[in-house]
Amino acid sequence: MNLSVNGVTRDVDSGPLTSLLDVLREELGVTSPKAGCEQGGCGACTVIVDGVARRSCLTPIAAVEGAEVTTVEGLGAPEDMSPLQQAFTHHYAAQCGFCTSGMMLAAQAYIDGGGTDDPEAIQEAIAGHVCRCTGYVKIIDAIAAAARGDSFDLTVTAQSAGMVNLGGAV
Ligand code: FES
Ligand code: FES
Repeated sequence: MNLSVNGVTRDVDSGPLTSLLDVLREELGVTSPKAGCEQGGCGACTVIVDGVARRSCLTPIAAVEGAEVTTVEGLGAPEDMSPLQQAFTHHYAAQCGFCTSGMMLAAQAYIDGGGTDDPEAIQEAIAGHVCRCTGYVKIIDAIAAAARGDSFDLTVTAQSAGMVNLGGAV
């Protein structure tokens, strides 16, 4: 079998009932989807499959043969973050980060589907995604900002948080 992961075709040797989560993490070395409950209840394993956010822990690989899979690595890179990744950074929407990949992919599918900055609609889009750190408010703020198309100067964000020393010597 094979599938496309972030635009690259990957051969898969795992058995047909192996979960997409295990294939990504254990066979292909793509570790951003997190193994939380592994029962469909936490959202940490969420990836986008052919444009739809899916729980990879509940998805047998045989059901997605040939599909286009997007993980958070496919959204952008640290030096070239997507608008949604920038919004999460600006709004401090990630703390420990365990839920963040799944949250972002649910949010990206929501935005790609025409989702707006309506907080109730965003809550529905991330329903079932468990975050034990943030209280959800900053996550919803970040998704709303990305849905609106807000732009950010992340150097200012970092300076205000003391995250980097832009002056050089530490
Ligand atoms: Fe898949 Fe929790 S690990 S929903
Ligand atoms: Fe820690 Fe969400 S940031 S679980």
